[in-house]
Amino acid sequence: MYKLENLSKEFHEKENSIAAVKNVNLHIEKGEIFGIIGFSGAGKSTLVRCLNLLEVPTSGKVIFNGKNLMEISQTELRKYRQKIGMIFQSFNLLAQRNIVDNVCYPLEIAGVKKKEARKKALALLKLVGIEEKAKNYPSQLSGGQKQRVAIARALATDPDVLLCDEATSALDPITTTAILELLKEINQKLGVTIIIITHEMKVVQQICDSVAVMSEGTIVEQGAVKEIFATPESEITKRLVWDWNFDSRSMYYEEGDT
Ligand SMILES: Nc1ncnc2c1ncn2[C@@H]1O[C@H](COP(=O)(O)OP(=O)(O)O)[C@@H](O)[C@H]1O
Ligand SMILES: [Mg+2]
Repeated sequence: MYKLENLSKEFHEKENSIAAVKNVNLHIEKGEIFGIIGFSGAGKSTLVRCLNLLEVPTSGKVIFNGKNLMEISQTELRKYRQKIGMIFQSFNLLAQRNIVDNVCYPLEIAGVKKKEARKKALALLKLVGIEEKAKNYPSQLSGGQKQRVAIARALATDPDVLLCDEATSALDPITTTAILELLKEINQKLGVTIIIITHEMKVVQQICDSVAVMSEGTIVEQGAVKEIFATPESEITKRLVWDWNFDSRSMYYEEGDT
């Protein structure tokens, strides 16, 4: 599905250069739910934006379904991008369009006829459990509902992969669990590969098969979720596990307990 080879991204600002992603090598299999975890500033968003060339890597290869995306024409890239869906922490819905028209948007761009696009959009809204809101506007929806719409929109062009950048970070714990369950269902029903970027262990624990731990632009550890978190090797992974244990424990104490 995805193979990243020696992928690097540097940003240049006046005299400064920031190496946001450094020599990353990753292999993501078709059909899996792959997590990329790390603290803020680790380079996760930059890395995920390199996966669809929203950010053009400074060097290295982004091989998607056997093609190096760095070597293809803009026209070809547009075609490939239809196979790469993306959702964000901030949902990024179009405020002036109602829900069904938001989902129709990528279909219009892909040249699908209006009637056909609408039919597909309504089916997708049903899939994500929000068809009754089809005529509402984004401002009338809760965060969890907005993310459902964003997921429906991302699925409109039948992507092979769904990139999720902190997709549940703005949601409360119960809504987070519901959205993660939905992503799991989409993975199982439609066979869409899912790549989850997060700073939260509980997200990785809840749905990911494999995980890569990122710190200062590099992947410090990767493997099966169970193994990585049972026997963490890097300091960063140990800290993530420790924080997570601490959070889980603290749920059992009432305020004021010692
Ligand atoms: N467009 C940009 N211009 C300059 N620096 C950037 C840009 N985007 C990200 N960075 C820098 O790259 C580093 C990694 O950022 P980011 O990928 O957003 O990390 P994360 O998503 O893990 O929090 C940070 O130091 C950040 O300031
Ligand atoms: Mg980020």
